[in-house]
Amino acid sequence: MRQILVTSALPYANGPIHLGHMVEHIQTDIWVRAMKAQGHQVTYVCADDAHGTSIMLKAHENGISPEDHIAAVRDSHETDFAKFLIHYDNYYTTHSDENREFSELIYRRLSSAGHISTRDVEQLFDPEKQLFLADRFVKGECPKCAAENQYGDNCEVCGTTYNATELKNPYSTLSGAEPVLKTSKHYFFDLPEFSEFLQQWTRDEGRLQPSIANKLQEWFDAGLASWDISRDAPYFGFKIPDTPADEPDKYFYVWLDAPVGYMASFKNLCEQRRGSTDPAKPELNFDDYWLAENQHKTEVYHFIGKDIVYFHALFWPAMLSGSEFRTPTSVFAHGFLMVNGDKMSKSRGTFIKAKTFTEHLQPEYLRYYFASKLSDKVEDFNLDFDDFIQKVNSDLVGKVVNIASRSAGFINKKFDGVLSSNNAEPELLADITRTGDEIAAAYENREFSKAMRLIMQCADKANEYIDAKKPWSMAKVEGSEQDVQDVCTVAINIFRQLMVYLAPVLPELTDNAKAFLNIDDLSFASRHQLLLGHQINKFKPLMQRVEQSQIDAIIEASKESLESTEQPSPTSEQAAQAASSPSSSALLPSDSDSSDIDSVDYISIEDFAKVEMTVAKVMECNHIEGADKLLQFTLDVGEDKPRNVFSGIRKFYEPKDLQGKKVICITNLAPRKMKFGVSEGMILSSGDPKTGLTVITLPEACQVGDKLG
Ligand code: 2FM
Ligand code: ZN
Repeated sequence: MRQILVTSALPYANGPIHLGHMVEHIQTDIWVRAMKAQGHQVTYVCADDAHGTSIMLKAHENGISPEDHIAAVRDSHETDFAKFLIHYDNYYTTHSDENREFSELIYRRLSSAGHISTRDVEQLFDPEKQLFLADRFVKGECPKCAAENQYGDNCEVCGTTYNATELKNPYSTLSGAEPVLKTSKHYFFDLPEFSEFLQQWTRDEGRLQPSIANKLQEWFDAGLASWDISRDAPYFGFKIPDTPADEPDKYFYVWLDAPVGYMASFKNLCEQRRGSTDPAKPELNFDDYWLAENQHKTEVYHFIGKDIVYFHALFWPAMLSGSEFRTPTSVFAHGFLMVNGDKMSKSRGTFIKAKTFTEHLQPEYLRYYFASKLSDKVEDFNLDFDDFIQKVNSDLVGKVVNIASRSAGFINKKFDGVLSSNNAEPELLADITRTGDEIAAAYENREFSKAMRLIMQCADKANEYIDAKKPWSMAKVEGSEQDVQDVCTVAINIFRQLMVYLAPVLPELTDNAKAFLNIDDLSFASRHQLLLGHQINKFKPLMQRVEQSQIDAIIEASKESLESTEQPSPTSEQAAQAASSPSSSALLPSDSDSSDIDSVDYISIEDFAKVEMTVAKVMECNHIEGADKLLQFTLDVGEDKPRNVFSGIRKFYEPKDLQGKKVICITNLAPRKMKFGVSEGMILSSGDPKTGLTVITLPEACQVGDKLG
């Protein structure tokens, strides 16, 4: 029996789970279930990735401690994953004692082996917020093409990569302030020392997909750079140990302790399982899975998105090998999810949260659709909703479930639910059993689309068989009872095989099928046992058709009205590091920690009192080229400088209608970066953004700068 540890990338604790995350967790969960069904001991762990500046700022924005924030997000992540039937053996957090201990241990071992050095780094610093700015928190004009509002690492317009310090007229997206240059000491992990080891490691048989190994070769050719693993306070994370007492505290960069979170979650599980006698939850020995000497005793697999290959195929194996731990057996990368042929978009309603999906459709539909699309390749793939409806309805409802629904009735009504004791089609059943070998291999090789194709071919054979035999006609002919029972028994046996094959993808449906078939085993080996002379139960419909109206409801519920959401995805914190490596945008980190946490339903009176509503005068109101929802305002709010505010009322007002009017502006809202600039407040209006909004105007007598409340 193989002993296998599997992980999915740890989702950031700063936003809800969306369908992009679900691709990976569904892919991993199917693989884990398929490997378990083939008799291996598989352990699947994950956790929330709970550290970093974004999470610290998000907690601050919500007025809660980072600890409370990450606890609430973890809760919502676990709920979402459970609804999609993702079964982790442990779902933990990187903000844990185990993770602190392993991060410190690895760091200390690397440091004593001489792999850590320090040097001063000059970086942009926000003088108002008093923090160093990662690239995604700085915007300005592209040094090459002068396009405005470009992030600190690359230009979305001309594609140039640069350092944030090269931006013209830079501003902090957190405060709008002009950043200043400031120097501080940083700690570096000497990645180039591992260059030879990594070149061999990445070329080892089965370690990486060929396209990934080739991409990495480009990075080796260009030369690896040492990796900045420290961040200055304020930061939410673990302090770096053993730093000089007279120097300011330094923190591990979130990407240092994130992958260590895989070990930490597993360690936590080992403790939970200590002394367990439950065969479904066996005791686990941490050392068997992580000590270098046990590299070949057990297997460790990481499922990840293609944007974080750099961290998993370079930094992580180098960190592990430099600290006497084993390295992963393989790293499996997948492509990005597109929806209806395009990048997920909030305004088109295709940035779909996991929760929204489950409010309208059964998650198993998506599990099947993803399975029918996923392969071992790193290619992006498309969730096309027309194709989705067609596939689910025709494959699952029309082909698979139909086999049971068209044969169960005869067995239940005419034979008291007892199957024939005769196998009337040994060849057909043997053929479908044999196909199971190919299906099992396709699962193991992550060729899920191939597995689904093979399964549907089996379903086609069953339906062709039933169509040819026509039990409904037979049943009308006197003396054909035995034939009817035989035909339906063959059909039900094929259905059982299909349930074995589909169990990794559709755990709930196949569980219900187990109840109908009156069996308790759907392991791969169980397909060899035929159900003959066996009592089955009453058939209940196992799956409903998907309706277009359900898709429409998901899209509608996912639409957001403001153009702020149409900005290019902010690059994540990791890009700060990765930007120093050769340009290879397809594999570099992209949008991953930028989405919003679901809002809370109720607020306290204290929370309400925090909102600062100020009388403002519209000094200027303008159309914005290219924006069909927004108007741009210059507002006098009684401060030294006027404020720039965008409001989504373009459809309902001409700028001249509001010129000179007194309005209410929320003045203590964090500045929001939008496609057309930073919005420094919000103008209050009433109504519905879809049907009509009325700006609340105030009598002339109201004094600019006065507070409302
Ligand atoms: O890209 C991301 O979403 C990261 N939170 C993944 C971390 S995976 C692991 F290394 F922790
Ligand atoms: Zn440019």
